[in-house]
This record gives sequence, C-alpha cells and structure tokens, in this order.
Amino acid sequence: AASANSASLGGIAPVAAAGESASLTILYGSQTGNAKGVANKLKEQAESRGLAVQLVNMADYKPANLKKEKFIAIAVSTYGEGEPPEPAETLHAFLASKKAPKLEGAKIAVLGLGDTSYEFFCQTAKDFETRLSALGAEVLHPRADLDVDYDAEAATWITGALDAFEPLIKAQAGAQNVTANPFAISASLESQYTKQNPFDAELSVVQKITGRDSTKDVRHIEISLEGSGITYQPGDSLGVYFLNDEARVEEIIALLKLDASTLVNVADEQITLRDALIEKLELTQSYPGFVEKYAQATNSADLQAVAADKAALREYIAARQIFDVIKQNPATIDAQTLVDCCRKVQARLYSIASSQAEVEEEVHLTVGLVEFDAFGETHHGGCSGYLALRAEEGAKVKVFSEHNDNFRLPQNDATPVIMIGPGTGIAPFRAFLQERDARGAEGENWLFFGNPHFTQDFLYQVEIQGYVKSGLLTNVDLAFSRDQAQKVYVQDRIREKGADVVAWLEKGAHVYICGDANRMAKDVHQALVDVLVSHSGRDAEQAEEYLKELRSAHRYQKDVY
Ligand code: 2AM
Repeated sequence: AASANSASLGGIAPVAAAGESASLTILYGSQTGNAKGVANKLKEQAESRGLAVQLVNMADYKPANLKKEKFIAIAVSTYGEGEPPEPAETLHAFLASKKAPKLEGAKIAVLGLGDTSYEFFCQTAKDFETRLSALGAEVLHPRADLDVDYDAEAATWITGALDAFEPLIKAQAGAQNVTANPFAISASLESQYTKQNPFDAELSVVQKITGRDSTKDVRHIEISLEGSGITYQPGDSLGVYFLNDEARVEEIIALLKLDASTLVNVADEQITLRDALIEKLELTQSYPGFVEKYAQATNSADLQAVAADKAALREYIAARQIFDVIKQNPATIDAQTLVDCCRKVQARLYSIASSQAEVEEEVHLTVGLVEFDAFGETHHGGCSGYLALRAEEGAKVKVFSEHNDNFRLPQNDATPVIMIGPGTGIAPFRAFLQERDARGAEGENWLFFGNPHFTQDFLYQVEIQGYVKSGLLTNVDLAFSRDQAQKVYVQDRIREKGADVVAWLEKGAHVYICGDANRMAKDVHQALVDVLVSHSGRDAEQAEEYLKELRSAHRYQKDVY
C-alpha cells in the first residue's frame, strides 16, 4: 500500500496530487540482513522525524507501484561478481526492462553495502541509482558505497538523506498532518546479542566429517548457546568471530621489528599490538584499501606501483592474504600506523546446520576448511582455519545469530520440499530435516546432495540414511562427481528425475538451493528450466516466468555464496 494515505482526509485538501504519496518508501535488498538492518534504522529515524514510511523488502515490492512513488530510499547490497542479492533480482531486472515506467518527479537516495575485497564493489547500488536516474528520477542525496565496517558511515548517510527528504515530504504532506507514530515497533524480539555485541560461546565439538583421503576438509561444529537466550530458525545464519593465527602474527611482528606489547588504539580501545593483530584486525581476506594504505605508509615504490594500477591491484590481492602482503614487503612502520592500515575483522556467516527443536541451546555448523598453497606455505581461511585447526574444543567463540527471511521452510507442514545442497550446501537442509522431524511435519522431503567421492565425502551419511529409513526423507538423489569417468552433478540428477521434479512443483513443492553461487546455483537453475520445458509443455521463456512466479511466492529460495 504505497500511497493510500492522501485520499481519505475529509475536508482538508491534500497538497499531493491524487495517487501521489507524501511518504518515504524504503526498499531494501538484503541477503544476510545488513541492508535490511540499515533500512530499519532509516525507517525508525524517519518516523521519529514525523515522516510516514513504507519499508518494503524488494522481493515483495510490486514494480507497478513505482510510478506512484515520489520519495524512494534504497538500501541494497552486492554479491559475487557485482550481482544483486537474490531478493533484489526481480526489481533490478525490471528497472532495466522495457516495462520500467518513467519516474520524472521522483526523488531518490541510494545506499550501497559491499566489500572492497570484491572487484564490483557496490555494483548493485550503482545500478539502482543509474537505472532510476535514467527513468527520470532525481538523486536527492548522494549515494554512499560502504565497505564491510559500515555502521558509522551508514548513520551519517541516514542523517544526510533524511535532512534532504524531510522538508520535501513535509511540504508535500502539507495539510495531511502526518504525525510520528509513537508505537512504531522496532523488530526487537531478538536476543541482546548482535554483531556489535556477540555472545561468548563455548565451542563444544569440532569433528572432521570428510574421510582421510578426501580432497576436502569439512568439519561438523557444535557451539553451546547456553544462557545466551539466542534463538534461531532453520534457514538462519550464525556470525562467528575468530582469532588470527598466532604464529603468523608473531612472524610479522618480528619481521617488522615491532614490539608485541606496544599499546595501540583500535576503535577507541587501548590494547597491545599483539592482541590487536590476533583479535581485532582483518589479516586474511585481502582488499585494495590495505595495499594502498600500507604502500603509502611504508613508502614502498613497488607496492605503490601495484596500487596505482587497478587491474594489477585486483590480481595482486586475489593471490594474497594481508599476511602475505606484509611479509613480502617488510618495512619500517610504527605499530599504530600498521594498525591504521588494517580494517576491523568481520564475523564470518555460516548457514546454521541444526534446528533448536532438536538441539535446543546448541547451534551446529558445517564448515569447509579453506586451504591453499602459496609462496611456499600452506594458507588457511581466517575463520575456517580457526574453527577447524586452531580452536580447541572448550575454547570460546564470539557468535550472534543472523535472521534470514529469504530461506524459510513452508509454513504449511504438509507442503513438499525439494532441497538442493551439494558440498557444505547441505547445512541448512540438515536444519530443515531436524525441524520437520521434530515437528512431525507430514510433507514430503526430497534431498539432492553431491560431493566428489561416496566413501570420503558423504556428509552426514548416517543421519541421512536414518531419515530415509524413518521415512522423513522421501527421496534422496546423490551425485558423487568423481566416482566415475564422467563428472555427475546434482543438476544431472535433477534432469534424470525431471518428470518427478515437475510433478512435485505442480503439487506445490518449495525448492531450495544452497551452496556455490557462481556455477552450481546457475547450473541448477538452468536444469530446472530444462525439466520444465521437457515435462510441462512450457517453452524456455515460460519456464523462466514460472520460476519467477515461484520466487515471488517464496517457493523458490536460494542461500548461495
Ligand atoms: P567436482 O569438484 O568433482 O567438480 C561439491 O563441491 C560438489 O559440487 C563436488 O562434487 C563438485 O564436483 C560439484 N560441482 C562442481 N562444479 C559444479 C557445478 N557447476 N554444479 C554442480 N556441482 C558442481
């Protein structure tokens, strides 16, 4: 209901023309909840200024309403190779299509969230601004493209955007006399533990669940949430903070001839250089800003040359962790300057692999260890290395739960579900199965799982076989890619079972994909299109349209990374 409030005002003549809205429409496109969080803050502050606000998930927004909008604020993140988050895909595509309406007279402000580790930083926010402008909308407040540590800048942008919107919206509202809603609820039935204030949890189990001869190292992790009050639902993620590798930290401190006990400032806190490097700063995931700052601070001509060439810089960081950049460019630098070159460490998000209906005050994860050789040594991912190798059972880990309304079991327990989760993409489906088992949900469950080898990589094999035996899992299709000469993937199994897949869809099944975004999720999508073409009499375009409808109905959901 984007613009219903100008009509029914009795004797007072509204200033706004019919159908025009004297309110702010906030659209968010969020994968992991960050853009949604910023959009919520924007809404709260707009309301506290007495503005009427509609806050809408882009996934639920009717593009036909666009032409009625006067004031639009957008908060949107970017994924992978500059792609929109899943819930923003439809609106993003609509704005570039011929169906997009003229938007002359509309005022917009766009906020982008992203990660400078990726090349197409905040691309989706740029796209929204470009496309809305091309349709005639006026940029009322400059776009901000924010990196992972965005809280302070987001707050500044919100204030700036509202300073710009407020007088215009109030003038438009005129006699409409919009007042602040003192009862505006801010969605806070959630626990007190957040990204900013994580819970100090105990790591209770770290168990390798791939075989000794596997090419992969996947760990089943159990964390105790006892006493935290943290709750989560199947489909949610867990944010996990980690400690950097002490040995590597000691190594760079020595190499730079620094003193580990020197006190430094990190985010208004005084701690030792050693603690800062182990606990507070990002030293694995590299990003251009570090190289630029470090090149400057150390006066390194070589590094400055790399930093000056965008393409070279991309290539340089893709091949290195921050540790490597420092190690390969030792220089004279003081402790605080080094710290100031680094950004704060960000929690890593993992899809939760358990249901509280089954495990109560625990949370389980399925963590693939990131491991690669470079420059003559083995490298590990920051968080996966910590969980799999460095943290011992009983250690403390700081965690918080992150809600994901874009990946939810059907409300109706009788609805069938199709789950496609190769590799660690199995995680949320273990949660789904636990939940449906505990609830006694009668709907059918179909799992597609794939990994290299049956004997080495059948994650949660015993549990899955148990669920087949109990009847909870109606169908299981496995794709062990390297157990035969020809690669076999989950999408091949989907094609083999195409007629049944289509029959399930037509009887109302929900479809979920979890795992690799770059190739797998796209190939699986194509397989779904193909089986619809082969078995439902639709052509490719109609099959795409059908999947789009499923998506709008929240029957086709992805959790991909
Ligand atoms: P591969 O490594 O043998 O190529 C989990 O990583 C499983 O997904 C592995 O069996 C892997 O096979 C497989 N996989 C690799 N690329 C894929 C793709 N494009 N689509 C689906 N599965 C893929």
